[in-house]
Amino acid sequence: MNSKKVILTGDRPTGPLHIGHYVGSLRKRVALQHEYRQYVLIADMQALTDNAGNPKKVRDNVLEVALDYLAVGLDPLQNTIVIQSLVPELAELTMYYLNLVTLARLQRNPTVKDEMKQKGFANNVPAGFLTYPVSQAADITAFKTKYVPVGEDQLPMIEQTNEIVDKFNSLYGGEILLRCEPLLSDVTRLPGTDGQGKMGKSTDNAIFLKETQKSLREKVRMMYTDPLHIKASDPGHLEGNTVFDYLDAFDLDKIGLEEIKAHYRKGGLGDSKVKERLFSILDQELLPIRIKRQEFEKDLGEVTAMLKKGSEAAREVAGQTLSEVRKALLLDY
Ligand code: TRP
Repeated sequence: MNSKKVILTGDRPTGPLHIGHYVGSLRKRVALQHEYRQYVLIADMQALTDNAGNPKKVRDNVLEVALDYLAVGLDPLQNTIVIQSLVPELAELTMYYLNLVTLARLQRNPTVKDEMKQKGFANNVPAGFLTYPVSQAADITAFKTKYVPVGEDQLPMIEQTNEIVDKFNSLYGGEILLRCEPLLSDVTRLPGTDGQGKMGKSTDNAIFLKETQKSLREKVRMMYTDPLHIKASDPGHLEGNTVFDYLDAFDLDKIGLEEIKAHYRKGGLGDSKVKERLFSILDQELLPIRIKRQEFEKDLGEVTAMLKKGSEAAREVAGQTLSEVRKALLLDY
């Protein structure tokens, strides 16, 4: 029996992963992979909840996301990397959990509310989208997950999951489902390169992990800085200045960075100099990731086999939970 605690995270495969995912979550997963039993879910069913008209996008990005995982150093021997839809037990659990949640409760989930606004769903929200937190509760509980390493925006999902767990356990007795806790990361959220909100997989303001050196250079060159810093001699502002936000996240030479900040504030330091520093830091960070990705890209068959193997292993565990759930619901015919 493996006594390591279970942690689980997931990503919707709607685009390749970017450096925002990297500082926000991927780095942490790599660091945690030895200490915990880690499941990493490529949430293709969840991705379809707002991409019903575009299954190809979801399908294509499953492999993209898997390659990104491998490239940053998630080891398939240390983690169970899972394609969500290959574990149909999750869909069945979702079906049972839906009876434990009210429509009003679903409509109150602040993250879902934000996303609905963003996507312009208004009154035409797909039922699958509104209920995806329930499917996420199935993801989490199926593997008896103890910790979910997430950013702030996923806290309402954890809360909703625990409500389902409590309701289930109190209705059907015992401790069948396990409550989970967030493992909050303290990292700052990276803004988009345009300085507008957060970096998005599908928006045009992301620096992807698979970015070539050439496109990285171009994206850094075009990055939003301080619109009032017109001539190098002008005093510059750091607040809301994307280039400095990124330097804060990636520049390890904190003393050097402080000097640069002071110089920029005072005036006399041009944007292009600061961007050159950022480019070289990001390029250094992305270089090994790029190389590793290229290695795996040479053998996509092997990557697919790894995903299938992970999903099979996940089915075993989820199947165990499902049979306990079925028994509790008197469905163990
Ligand atoms: N909702 C997450 C996202 O939008 C993806 C996800 C699916 C997830 N299932 C999960 C995250 C389970 C944590 C745990 O990126």
